Amino acid sequence: MSRYWSEVVRGLTPYVPGEQPKLADLIKLNTNENPYGPSPRAIEAARAEAADTLRLYPDPASQRLAQAIARRHGVAENQVFVGNGSDEVLAHAFHGLLRHGKPVLFPDITYSFYPVYCRLYGIEYREVPLNDAFEIEVDAYLKAPNGGIVFPNPNAPTGRLLPVSGIERLLEGNPDSVVLVDEAYVDFGGVSAVPLVQRYPQLLVTCTLSKSHALAGLRVGYAIGHPDLIEGLTRVKDSFNSYPMDRIAQASAVAAIEDTAYFDSTRNRVIASRGRLVAGLQSLGFEVLPSSANFVFARHPARDGADLAARLRERRIIVRHFRNPARIAPFLRITVGTAEQCVALLAALGEILAPRGVASSTAP
Ligand SMILES: Cc1ncc(COP(=O)(O)O)c(C=O)c1O
Repeated sequence: MSRYWSEVVRGLTPYVPGEQPKLADLIKLNTNENPYGPSPRAIEAARAEAADTLRLYPDPASQRLAQAIARRHGVAENQVFVGNGSDEVLAHAFHGLLRHGKPVLFPDITYSFYPVYCRLYGIEYREVPLNDAFEIEVDAYLKAPNGGIVFPNPNAPTGRLLPVSGIERLLEGNPDSVVLVDEAYVDFGGVSAVPLVQRYPQLLVTCTLSKSHALAGLRVGYAIGHPDLIEGLTRVKDSFNSYPMDRIAQASAVAAIEDTAYFDSTRNRVIASRGRLVAGLQSLGFEVLPSSANFVFARHPARDGADLAARLRERRIIVRHFRNPARIAPFLRITVGTAEQCVALLAALGEILAPRGVASSTAP
């Protein structure tokens, strides 16, 4: 605390990102990164860009990248906004599109950055409980006037998907404020709401290259929506930072998006690994929520979530555990790793769960 801090800073409760440990030889399954790495073409494009043009400012509008994104999704270029990770895109959306003096609605169990943005921008919010199966209940969002509705689809950290029919019902019943669907994980088995932007001017869909394109380190995210929503985001961006996307990020992201063969092969490997991971966890007695993401949310009926996470850590495997809200404290959120990483995780859990003195048959 400093007397130089503004009142805003004193009132903040910043987001706490998943740990990025410096230790070698860790199996890191805590921040939903992609285990396979980005397209070699994306790395080559980054190298070429770095070799040549870094003395010049980048294109403030990220036009080539916006065009590549527009082609990928079959929308017009003026329906695309690009930002420094989808976190920045989300922040601009809260600031520019969701601050209307009425509460913004989002699930009680969801991406924990949403309440952080609300506090940063002085936005009132209300958390709408997921049902007992950890699903979004559309009707619960349609009861009161709101300043906007936000949720990830698939939701995080549950991995559960709301079908597009549910999103459409939400849009039909909520024409007067923005509905923001955060599709950070949609490429791992979800169905995108992007086609609906042509019919619903209040729909904004955000996406990221951090997960399915394995470019978390590059910081590239984007939003797709009606040109008026995009113009609003651009006004916020141009009042904040003209150049959030550096030259390397723009060039590399274009190459990653255009390498569709690599994208398909790695995301299919993640999806296949997820199937094996879920089966392995279930055979160890875990209850696993149906996941459409590159992570699973699982609890063991007889074991404490925090204790399991700590014991995995002793074996140099890191997963994510949330103490709050209490309803999810028994769960572990486990990123789907490579086939080998999943085998190592299951072996470690087998050891941890084995009665004392009994050697586990799945131990490595
Ligand atoms: C639901 C959700 N949305 C958005 C993000 C932000 O992704 P990025 O800023 O890397 O694009 C994350 C990151 O984990 C996330 O889980």
